[in-house]
Amino acid sequence: MNDEKNMAGRKVAIVTGGARGIGAAIACRLAEDGHDIAIVDLKIDSCGETVAAVEARGGRAIAVAANVADEGEVVDGVTQIVERLGPPTILVNNAGIMKDRTLAKMTLDDWDAVIDVNLRSVFLMCREVHSHMREAGWGRIVNMSSIAALGIFGGTNYSAAKAGIQGITKTMALELGRYGITANVVAPGFVLTDMTKEVSERMGTTIEAVSAEMVKSISVGRPGVPDDVANAVAFFVDSRSSFITGQVLYVAGAPRG
Ligand code: NAI
Repeated sequence: MNDEKNMAGRKVAIVTGGARGIGAAIACRLAEDGHDIAIVDLKIDSCGETVAAVEARGGRAIAVAANVADEGEVVDGVTQIVERLGPPTILVNNAGIMKDRTLAKMTLDDWDAVIDVNLRSVFLMCREVHSHMREAGWGRIVNMSSIAALGIFGGTNYSAAKAGIQGITKTMALELGRYGITANVVAPGFVLTDMTKEVSERMGTTIEAVSAEMVKSISVGRPGVPDDVANAVAFFVDSRSSFITGQVLYVAGAPRG
């Protein structure tokens, strides 16, 4: 039994966007650290692999279908999680989308969609879940930002959302610390996932070509993989990280921020 299990016991963790990519890796890692996992994603069908992977690591897992940008679906989803797994005290807001266009071509729909899924969702999920953490006198919130918070060509919407996540997290750290709840940010650099593959293809190139270009500015000389990000999330979630809150950890293979 590892220290986390000894010191904190089994918790219920919510991972949004956990069907694939970075979210799936986070779900698996938190299961390895002894927690039960609720995967929140758009479609239950897409969560099967992650559910099986969590169960293979000894955790209980459920999949809950919800659009995290929709207030009603968030409220219903969290209610289901409480009923089926118990009150959640770990929340990883990982769900995100990109709709990149230069300012001249950016539509209001592109702007709203990216702000809603990446940023509004963090507000909705935290507002819904933090009462369970307050009741328990313990909680861990980890929100997924990006190096795009520092500026990214063609991403006015995405960079605003990812910078906003840093602001909301620091404010929640101020408000919730007294209840034993920490709130921190993980801000990945370039990570190989379906998202980066799809974005590469939308740009008319390949993930291999984009990766070769990106690696030129990555000191450690390789692209990130989902487990790199999951490891940083697990660090913030660890019960021994209780004196660390309101922080932004860039996981980018190079100095950032
Ligand atoms: P991905 O596209 O592979 O996975 C995202 C997951 O979120 C999918 O399962 C998708 O169905 C789900 N999702 C999308 N909209 C949703 C909604 N409205 N409600 C519920 N679930 C929804 O993405 P990836 O690469 O795993 O990224 C995960 C997070 O990490 C995102 O927030 C992304 O912005 C962030 N990130 C990713 C980087 C990368 O290089 N892949 C770099 C920096 C940040």
